[in-house]
Amino acid sequence: MSEIASLPTGSRQRQGSNIGQPMTRREGVLKVTGQATYAADNNPEGLLYAVVATATIARGRVTHLDVEAAKAHPGVVEVLTPQNRPPLALDPDAKLHGFMFRLDLLQNDGVRYAGQPIALVVARTLEAANEGAALLAPQYEVEAPRVDLDGENFVPEVVGPGAPARAETGDFDAEYAGSAKTLEATYETPPQYHNAMEPHSIVAAWDGDRLSIDMPTQGMAMAIDRVAGLFGIPAENIHIRSPFLGGGFGSKGMPAGPQMLGIIAAKHVGAPVKLVLSRQQMYGPVGHRGQTRQTLRLGMSDDGRLTAIEHHTLASTSRFDDFVEPASNASHTLYAAPGIRTTHEGARIDIGTPMFMRAPGEASGSAALEGAIDEAAFAARMDPLDFRLLNYAEVEPISGKPFSSKALRECYAKGAERFGWAKRPLEPRSMRDAEGRLVGWGVGTAMFPAIMFQAAARAVIRADGSGLMETGAHDMGQGAWTALHQIAADGLGLSMDETEFRAGSSDLPDAGIAGGSGHTATAGMALHRAGEDVIAKLTELAVNDENSPLYGAGNVGVVARNGRLVRQDDESRGEPYAAILQRAGLAEIEGKGQGVPDAGPREKYAMDAHGAVFAEVTVDPDLGQIRVTRLIGAFAAGRVINPRMVESQYYGGMIWGISFALHEEAVHDKRSGRIMNANLAEYRVPVNADVPSLETILVHEDDPYVNALGIKGVGEIGVTGTVGAIAGAIWHATGVRVRRFPINVADLL
Ligand code: MOS
Repeated sequence: MSEIASLPTGSRQRQGSNIGQPMTRREGVLKVTGQATYAADNNPEGLLYAVVATATIARGRVTHLDVEAAKAHPGVVEVLTPQNRPPLALDPDAKLHGFMFRLDLLQNDGVRYAGQPIALVVARTLEAANEGAALLAPQYEVEAPRVDLDGENFVPEVVGPGAPARAETGDFDAEYAGSAKTLEATYETPPQYHNAMEPHSIVAAWDGDRLSIDMPTQGMAMAIDRVAGLFGIPAENIHIRSPFLGGGFGSKGMPAGPQMLGIIAAKHVGAPVKLVLSRQQMYGPVGHRGQTRQTLRLGMSDDGRLTAIEHHTLASTSRFDDFVEPASNASHTLYAAPGIRTTHEGARIDIGTPMFMRAPGEASGSAALEGAIDEAAFAARMDPLDFRLLNYAEVEPISGKPFSSKALRECYAKGAERFGWAKRPLEPRSMRDAEGRLVGWGVGTAMFPAIMFQAAARAVIRADGSGLMETGAHDMGQGAWTALHQIAADGLGLSMDETEFRAGSSDLPDAGIAGGSGHTATAGMALHRAGEDVIAKLTELAVNDENSPLYGAGNVGVVARNGRLVRQDDESRGEPYAAILQRAGLAEIEGKGQGVPDAGPREKYAMDAHGAVFAEVTVDPDLGQIRVTRLIGAFAAGRVINPRMVESQYYGGMIWGISFALHEEAVHDKRSGRIMNANLAEYRVPVNADVPSLETILVHEDDPYVNALGIKGVGEIGVTGTVGAIAGAIWHATGVRVRRFPINVADLL
């Protein structure tokens, strides 16, 4: 059952006032004391260990595997290859969705990318499984791979998360042709890998045609759906536990191929099987952020007003699926111009299929757009912040819709003030620190759409007046459970201590997807509605009961306060929940709720969170060494449920922005097609020494349309403004415009 139910609580808050409080993490103590169990911590009776053998070529065919040698290992129980892999109910290459989700499940001897699973070894110990995998000594027929963007391309039907491959408003060509000034720039972003701390893992156990899974997943119902389809069993036969994730960032949005292989193996050998990918094995079959080459053409008037924006993205995808990073979408929302055109193209190369990765589209897209905007600002001899304010989008440029709320001006103003932006000289290379290092300042606009999915929740008030709230939510590490528990308690008019909160299991109502920065809004709205439902039922009992002080109060209205129902016109008149239930002879009363996007308002308004990030960097004039010395982000994302968690999400996003700007890059060997730095020693991510003291400003924003709670989402937006701010600061320090990420020492020498 749910692990969260028994958690110690740090709550001192009272009912109705939990939202907005900086509660500490409900699961924090369990995590720091090692009591929080992750999927791979489960060791059912009779457990066997599976290890995937992966391709060391990027394109071709496996011609031989020494299965006999592996099987001769005393610890090895079974070796699965395309020759003996049991049949599946669904072809793993079936095109189920528009752009992704085809899997490599040993369907044939073909190799489509380096790191693709080509066999699976099941053994009594992990060591034996690894040794068995090494004994397979694969031989190949090798074809020359393509791992770069210089080749043939295709136009996808849809890109990334279901966006059109081409979108426009106004007449870009005419506007661009008639512009007083024009600018064209091409920016490149590299392939990046999610590198969640917890590798993809699974513990799978079959009992007849019932399946029990411990697996980290960002979306339980979607995972069940996919597993049910592949194995031809009803969804209700599948039980997933996923209380904690050691990060996901999109890569755990759907079960990955190797996790499915773990389920196949468990069925085939008739015993529970554990499979955990090594760090190296996470570079291939579990998704990544595809590389992009983005060309921007901007037109503007003499006074710096944008007239035309064209944003074209060429992005890598695999040979066998269609996920194309929707980077050009960044230009739909950020800056006003009468003519806007965005387009996408894909390049089929010999890599695993790219996937959602934190701020998919916007992260890469705004990195390029913000750079081009900075270039345009300097061409117009304008301060980059003034330029952004001049081209402020009062309505969403691509759709013409008004924003449901947009406090971006306040973000710019508050961030600029705190940063001291007014003192920024226009010319690059005009500031130095006391040690003689070049100093530069940059700004970037942050934006991420306020997405909602679908979720359900159940609320219960018990005879003793305490409450229970359930939704299947998983905590990726972002503090979602804490925020959701706050919403749950407020929904019941109780304190957090009086409200039991259960989550983390597919037995519970589905909490939808922890992705798209939409989890708190979606699951939160389900909890909120479930609370309303149960309170309404309780009210119904009270106002119709002659023995209740609320008898007949239906007309004036009844509200939940402090574990009591009270008259809206006189809060001193009412009675505790417990009294109502006891008189009615009920042990408990139940309510249900759904969190769904409201179609009406979404039709009418564009809904996005916004922010402004200000960066200071120093650059050693002789060595080119770059240091981010200050980073301030001001964000407006609707209602803040828990300022501590929200700040922490912004910090995480901003650090990811540093990573994008200066560190992360998967490097392919062009001959072999293999990734040469598939490990955390050489795939660089920022360490503490790379991260300055960060500051966030939570800008107040009331949004009456996005949902009843006014929540937008905070998980991904921090990445988006930060990359541009740092790149702009590096240009301002050095006068060198680097249009390729990550920006390296070598680029500045
Ligand atoms: Mo996120 S890339 O929607 O997990």
